[in-house]
Amino acid sequence: MTESPDPNARDLIEFYLDAGADAFIGEEPVDRFALVDGPVAPKVAERPALVREAAPPIAAPARPAPQAPDEAATAARIAARSATTLDELRAIVEGFDGCALKATASRTVFSDGNPQARLMLVGEAPGRDEDIEGLPFVGRSGKLLNQMLKAIGLDRTSVYIANIVPWRPPGNRDPSPHESAICLPFILRQIELVDPDVLVCLGKPSMQTLLGLMEPISKARGRWVTFNTGKRDIKALATFHPAFLLRSPLQKRFAWRDLLAIKKALKNG
Ligand code: URA
Repeated sequence: MTESPDPNARDLIEFYLDAGADAFIGEEPVDRFALVDGPVAPKVAERPALVREAAPPIAAPARPAPQAPDEAATAARIAARSATTLDELRAIVEGFDGCALKATASRTVFSDGNPQARLMLVGEAPGRDEDIEGLPFVGRSGKLLNQMLKAIGLDRTSVYIANIVPWRPPGNRDPSPHESAICLPFILRQIELVDPDVLVCLGKPSMQTLLGLMEPISKARGRWVTFNTGKRDIKALATFHPAFLLRSPLQKRFAWRDLLAIKKALKNG
């Protein structure tokens, strides 16, 4: 008789994936810190078979020397300014090595949607699903975002979507203020090049970074502010992040108000 699978196994595997693990390499855990050197490391003969048979270490790919955050932010600003189209900007972001997040992400997640759209939405950073697909908001929160857009007659062909940071932070941690500061010139230039009529910040980090609003998002959401794209003043608003709404479904009633306000602004604008 086959053994029935442990009902917790799926949750545990999902936890490991969220924590940044991306491959299964053995049945038994291996304490790799204990294997490094010094008296705590077991002798080779005592090590588990998995480790004895492990392939020789693979040399890390040569990477440019890390830049100080200020230097990297300056380099990002100069590079972003040199882009005259979204395609140029995408190529510049993909080739930029000044943000350490790029080294651990599998892809650059630049944008999705319609560059001609009147509505642009900006989230925080890609998660695991986005990192795999190379597109923003394709995981669970993306599915909810699609439903929210549909509720006001929009979809991915009629909006443009991007993130403050285009690389997934390892284990889905929050991007650090330095990482966000380095990436900021790219999203600002992206907004300028898309030149939407309405900008929507999804969640607190996007609201703080782009709109400079430091209140709790529960207070600041739904309030129109003016955002200067570099070309002109447009209307901007923050609303709850779909990932938060998945955890706190009762807050969807406030998100619904924000969606109606967005619909009205697009109709009047
Ligand atoms: N959360 C974000 O902020 N952005 C994504 O692309 C996905 C999840």
